[in-house]
Amino acid sequence: MKVEDLNKCAGSTDWNVLYWVLGTILMPVALPLALFNIWQRFRAQKYRNQLPGKVVLITGASSGVGEALAHVFYKAGCKVILAARRTLELERVKKDLLALDLEPAYPPTVLGLDLAELNTIPDFVTRVLGVYNQVDILINNGGISVRADVASTAVDVDLKIMVVNYFGSVALTKALLPSMLKRKSGHICFISSVQGKFAIPQRAAYSASKHAMQAFADSLRSEVASKNINVSTVSPGYVRTQLSLNALTGTGKSYGKMDDSTAKGMSPDKLAERILKCILRNEPDILVSDVQAKVAYYLRHLCPSLFFWIMAKRALKLEKAEKKTG
Ligand SMILES: NC(=O)c1ccc[n+]([C@@H]2O[C@H](COP(=O)([O-])OP(=O)(O)OC[C@H]3O[C@@H](n4cnc5c(N)ncnc54)[C@H](OP(=O)(O)O)[C@@H]3O)[C@@H](O)[C@H]2O)c1
Ligand SMILES: *[C@@H]1O[C@H](CO)[C@@H](O)[C@H](O)[C@H]1NC(C)=O
Repeated sequence: MKVEDLNKCAGSTDWNVLYWVLGTILMPVALPLALFNIWQRFRAQKYRNQLPGKVVLITGASSGVGEALAHVFYKAGCKVILAARRTLELERVKKDLLALDLEPAYPPTVLGLDLAELNTIPDFVTRVLGVYNQVDILINNGGISVRADVASTAVDVDLKIMVVNYFGSVALTKALLPSMLKRKSGHICFISSVQGKFAIPQRAAYSASKHAMQAFADSLRSEVASKNINVSTVSPGYVRTQLSLNALTGTGKSYGKMDDSTAKGMSPDKLAERILKCILRNEPDILVSDVQAKVAYYLRHLCPSLFFWIMAKRALKLEKAEKKTG
């Protein structure tokens, strides 16, 4: 036998090993996954046909992700109820929707809501139920962020973030839940953040509010599972919205800057499409982000000390950058 032939031999064994690996290890995993994916698509299509006429309440619909959600659900033929503090902005969103000139479509409803005013939320829900008598899908999306380290954040600011992002959504969910339980039907979606999965420096209050939201949703999901009420949590990475502009500083002033990371984030329209799909497929908990945030998520749980080391570096970098800009 010549050396060349020997090489050929070795080559073909390599391929055999590869086929063996593919056949015995990957196929039993890949095939069911592929089938599961096809089945999910099929089911999502079935539910999409049921979307027209569904009543969808969206908080924080006056800008960013909420505004994009209003478009996506309106185009799907839903009866959208838009809520936020700035009703003028909501009217603008409503005008934009009506200008799409879709037929058939239900005219959007605009309702003022301040998530920080917890005592007003039961009345708000009475007004909501006055429109169509029911809500099929509640999307807890309204929220604010923070840009400050713990040492320079007033407790009032921690409280404000927690009230708007967490207690506001809790109060709204609880006020709507009885009507959903009565009908034995409903879907409650929480727009959390990757920061509801792991915390980064200068965002303690925000991250804490989203972690709390995640835990609340997980607990609620288990309780209402047998009552045909579905609960989804969506944790997006950076999205191109007004979030950083509207964020609070440690003293409670408006941060007022567009962060680079936010400006380079995903498009709110794409995220809104993904959220619709998540609801149709009844996915309980999804992470919508780039690879970096996904790696961070796994590191936080599988290798926390490395994650904390990286975050400490990041905190130092932020501190230095801040000193530079004053
Ligand atoms: N942008 C991101 O990078 C990102 C990433 C992950 C998760 N998220 C989450 O996505 C959600 C939407 O944020 P966004 O990015 O679209 O930011 P945004 O453009 O600033 O929109 C925030 C929305 O929340 C509403 N809101 C704020 N405070 C409120 C209050 N007290 N009562 C009622 N509504 C209130 C605002 O409406 P009014 O001012 O008219 O009240 C606005 O419609 C938030 O929960 C946020 O945490 C965003
Ligand atoms: C909840 O999800 C299940 C599928 O997991 C679906 O059969 C059911 O119709 C959903 N219920 C509501 C109210 O969306």
